[in-house]
Amino acid sequence: MPVNALRQYLEMLKNNGIKELYKPIDTDKTALLAELKAKYSSCDKCPLSQGRTNFVYGEGNPNAKAMIIGEAPGKEEDLSGRPFVGAAGNLLEKMLLAINLQRTDVYIANIVKCRPPQNRDPEATERLACMPYLVEQIEIIRPKMLLVVGLVAAQTLLGNTNTLQWHRDKVHEFMGIPVYVTYHPAALLRNSNWKRPAWEDLQAFQKDYNKL
Ligand code: URA
Repeated sequence: MPVNALRQYLEMLKNNGIKELYKPIDTDKTALLAELKAKYSSCDKCPLSQGRTNFVYGEGNPNAKAMIIGEAPGKEEDLSGRPFVGAAGNLLEKMLLAINLQRTDVYIANIVKCRPPQNRDPEATERLACMPYLVEQIEIIRPKMLLVVGLVAAQTLLGNTNTLQWHRDKVHEFMGIPVYVTYHPAALLRNSNWKRPAWEDLQAFQKDYNKL
């Protein structure tokens, strides 16, 4: 098609409200994410690879408007290869339901894809080695909002050493996407006094999510 005709055609589509000419459909993203998961599952960029049963890549709706970002897999996640399936995962699902989201509405991933021994915090070098996988997931899914649970994930994503309170106090940005921070569900299981402020965080997140 000659350039002028193409320009006219695009103009006409735009005038008729068609603003996005190509939007990757579910199957594109699903296949791509599955391909990358398989490709990276033999990763040995850091020592965590030596102790893992499974590389826990992430899972969920490839067209999710919201992505949930945790810290690292625990025992259940390591055994199953799926993020947030243990006790913290059950609570995360309840937290999502409380704001009218099903687990299948969102995409769930962690900063670090392999379980640290005894669930210790992942080291800075381990987090750095793993971050490109998360960045790529965000690039593919292009969510409209990121909900980060816990201090380690927040500090890693936003590149600082500030407190959880500091992170919760405002909406941040990563790769041009608004970032909301709240308590890690495992922390809420340990201290129920944090449930009220966590609920407030979730309500603020929901208010903006409903505007999307
Ligand atoms: N805690 C996390 O941060 N991620 C999981 O997948 C499970 C527990």
